[in-house]
Amino acid sequence: MQSKLYAVLLNRGSAVISGLHHYALEVPDLDIAEGFLQDFGLETSEKDGSLVARCPGRDQEQVRMVRAPAKRLHHVTFTLRPGSMDAVREALDRAGTPVTEPPAGGTEDGLWLRDPDGTAVQLLDTAPAPARPVAEVLVNMGATQQRLNVAQWTQATRDVLPRRLGHSLLFTAQPRPMTEFYTRVLGLRVSDTIHHDRVTFLNAGPGDHHVFGFIASSHPGFHHASFEVPSIDAIAIGADRMRARGRGAGWGLGRHTIGSNFFHYNPDPWGSWIEWFSDIDQIDDCWVANDWEVPPHLWGTPPPETFLNNQEPRSAE
Ligand SMILES: [Fe+2]
Repeated sequence: MQSKLYAVLLNRGSAVISGLHHYALEVPDLDIAEGFLQDFGLETSEKDGSLVARCPGRDQEQVRMVRAPAKRLHHVTFTLRPGSMDAVREALDRAGTPVTEPPAGGTEDGLWLRDPDGTAVQLLDTAPAPARPVAEVLVNMGATQQRLNVAQWTQATRDVLPRRLGHSLLFTAQPRPMTEFYTRVLGLRVSDTIHHDRVTFLNAGPGDHHVFGFIASSHPGFHHASFEVPSIDAIAIGADRMRARGRGAGWGLGRHTIGSNFFHYNPDPWGSWIEWFSDIDQIDDCWVANDWEVPPHLWGTPPPETFLNNQEPRSAE
């Protein structure tokens, strides 16, 4: 009950963030990063000495990799709803959060700040680029009979690559202050929580159930990023592709509880995870946040024991 009230109180802000634009990691070897992201299904290129990756058919940077001695979260970037930059500046002012210079390896665009964990956050006053258009997936399931005289197995492999970055979850040692900052100052909303603040899912208003969130841990870190693919078949085909290319065993196929999306995760070369998703819950302003005591998966094998390991080095600061 206490957690539900907490979520209601935090959901009073207006959603000024429209979505997750990209995330950036520091990694020791950009060639290893490039091979991994290409196997996952992203297109890569070099930009300002960094590696950037996009979803095929979407004109938006989704991942940036900056060369550094150890893997570490470098920054997260969000898009703002049009015309909300002044309101964000005022909210930052009220919260006593200064606007900062971009970190080395970040672009000059938009506005930069540090969240309570010290992570660099970039806010862009630009609309998100449209995701690659996809065909309707016709199903014969339940009472829905949409596909007649079409052999689905001949269609299912046609479009399987990621079309947009959907969300990312970070480790934090202070989930409540982080949640308060991202909701009260930046206007995200709590979608749901698991076991009070063990896992917190945040939304940016109408759309995906979550675009961001936190997993309680001993220290800050990057847990995973997740990309939408056109279908459940695309998830399984992607997992097959990673297996065929010798990538480490992941977690999935399964359907999540919170968010309900089909999922498959692969470990990345640095001890964190990357996910494909499909069929995530869509919510609007009528959604009511709740606190749940559930495992992360509705069906499928349980997560590997390493799934919640935070292998990021503790900050020297
Ligand atoms: Fe996810």
